[in-house]
Amino acid sequence: MPRKKFVAGNWKMNTTLAEARALAQAVVAGVGSAPTVDVAVCPPFVWLAGVAEVLRGSPVALGAQDVHYEKKGAFTGEVSPGMLTEVGCKYVIVGHSERRHGLGETDAAVNHKVHTALEEGLRVILCVGETLAERERDLQERVFQRQVYAACAGLTDDQFDRLVLAYEPVWAIGTGKVATPDQAQTAHHNIRRRMSQLYGEKVAGALPILYGGSVTAENAPGLMSQPDVDGGLIGGASLKADQFLAIVKAAGG
Ligand code: PGA
Repeated sequence: MPRKKFVAGNWKMNTTLAEARALAQAVVAGVGSAPTVDVAVCPPFVWLAGVAEVLRGSPVALGAQDVHYEKKGAFTGEVSPGMLTEVGCKYVIVGHSERRHGLGETDAAVNHKVHTALEEGLRVILCVGETLAERERDLQERVFQRQVYAACAGLTDDQFDRLVLAYEPVWAIGTGKVATPDQAQTAHHNIRRRMSQLYGEKVAGALPILYGGSVTAENAPGLMSQPDVDGGLIGGASLKADQFLAIVKAAGG
């Protein structure tokens, strides 16, 4: 079965509640009732309920930007996967580089989060990607291998059905330095090959691999037309409905 394209907006720590609802409304209106691309928006935790109301009955899915690795308990300030499903989330982003590199999230914590989120019925958008220093030392392959292998340890084939990978080279996130379509295609192809070696062809062939890092309406057509690029995880450009919708369109929606 051909992989369906998927475009998700990561709003990060942006928007007021009113802006979040208006942005969601504009995305719903622009996406229409039967898009050929899967679309999700990931607002800050505190706006999830308000945005869920706006998305209700539309094909635009709700996602969260992070989740805790335990199901409940004394974890001040944290949010559990069950809370996310109850508020209407279908997706959760796990292992974003801003958490790995900015907040010291380890591969082991990412693996634990992936398991708990999948057990609670969420779909996981798992982020991987090399830093500039790693790229300069030609370590991309080793970084994917380490991050993916650690994050996916112990998953069953069924669980892989609810996993989406996002290749996000750290040097491209929020920097305006986007990977070229060729660089993205090469990285995605290598990740898929590695996934096939680790988990078999069936898992690797069905796995959606999104590109993330400075995707804009202008560079999206080149990136989205690559055979191994199955969509995008969009930061800055997802905060402007017209930009985000143009990226959805470039993905085929
Ligand atoms: P960016 O962010 O599009 O602003 O580079 C992408 C991401 O961090 O997911």
